[in-house]
Amino acid sequence: MGQINVEQLGFALGAQVTGIDLRQPLNDLSRKEILDAWHRHLVLVFPDQDLDANQQIAFSRNFGELERNDFQPHYRDPDHPEILLVTNKHLNGKPSETRNTGRNWHSDLTYTNRPAKASLLLCKERPPVGGDTLFANLYLAYETLSKPMRAFVETLEAIHDVSLIKGLEKRDPQKVADLKRTNPPVAHAVVKVHPETGRKALLLGQRIRGFVGYTEEESAPILNFLNEHASSPEFVYRHRWSVNDLVMWDNRCLMHLALPDFDQTKTRHMIRTSILGELSGYYVKDGEEPEKESLMQAIASVS
Ligand code: OGA
Ligand code: MN
Repeated sequence: MGQINVEQLGFALGAQVTGIDLRQPLNDLSRKEILDAWHRHLVLVFPDQDLDANQQIAFSRNFGELERNDFQPHYRDPDHPEILLVTNKHLNGKPSETRNTGRNWHSDLTYTNRPAKASLLLCKERPPVGGDTLFANLYLAYETLSKPMRAFVETLEAIHDVSLIKGLEKRDPQKVADLKRTNPPVAHAVVKVHPETGRKALLLGQRIRGFVGYTEEESAPILNFLNEHASSPEFVYRHRWSVNDLVMWDNRCLMHLALPDFDQTKTRHMIRTSILGELSGYYVKDGEEPEKESLMQAIASVS
């Protein structure tokens, strides 16, 4: 008999976990059951968890070392560097810079050489309607490609670029300049083996500029196809938030998107912790991909 109750929320991914108070320290059995459920369902929803910052930090630490948000220092909680406030509340009298976080498909921190392993988001206030979050299963996205397409995508490395975060133009230009300077474009393999489950998943999203070695024209249709395929409705779980839902997701096998479909005069206030991932990928220089004109010149010079 297990310690926790796990109830599936979606066919592709998502499960709700009850029968546990996350303010209390986890025992080894519960921790193992949570990890098993998480590996199976990718997104776990823990309802009715009224955690304060320290309790959320303590619970998150069960799953690894916490990200201290050095990649985006402007948006962390000044009292707790492990916490990022994803909120449209005013901070210091100004609209929060994170009010449009996550508006296109992404996995957290893939624009760095240390993408987050997991993220935990706690809902503290929500608008009366809307503001759901979508999660797409990237194991299924890989597994449902044809065999030759799987072989092809295995050869691809994608260039992840912080400047493709949607809505950056609405943020403070100085902070955005810092963000870009700290985070030059980084290449990651498109197919990754999940270190804990051993399953292969795609690493995709809309913060990808193109593929290493390919022109923009060549990359765009491939990238669009892969993102569309991966976000097919049957691979997606849509989470409708309740206050005090803590949602824990695995960035190594899913991508997610925060819907903007709500009244921005109503508060949406979320508290995020992230688990540090493994070092991965390499920085690429701007303009490393060949351009059509230079290819034409190369052809002209040999003919
Ligand atoms: C995030 C994120 C989703 C949301 O915090 O990484 O993408 O719905 N948030 O706020
Ligand atoms: Mn995110």
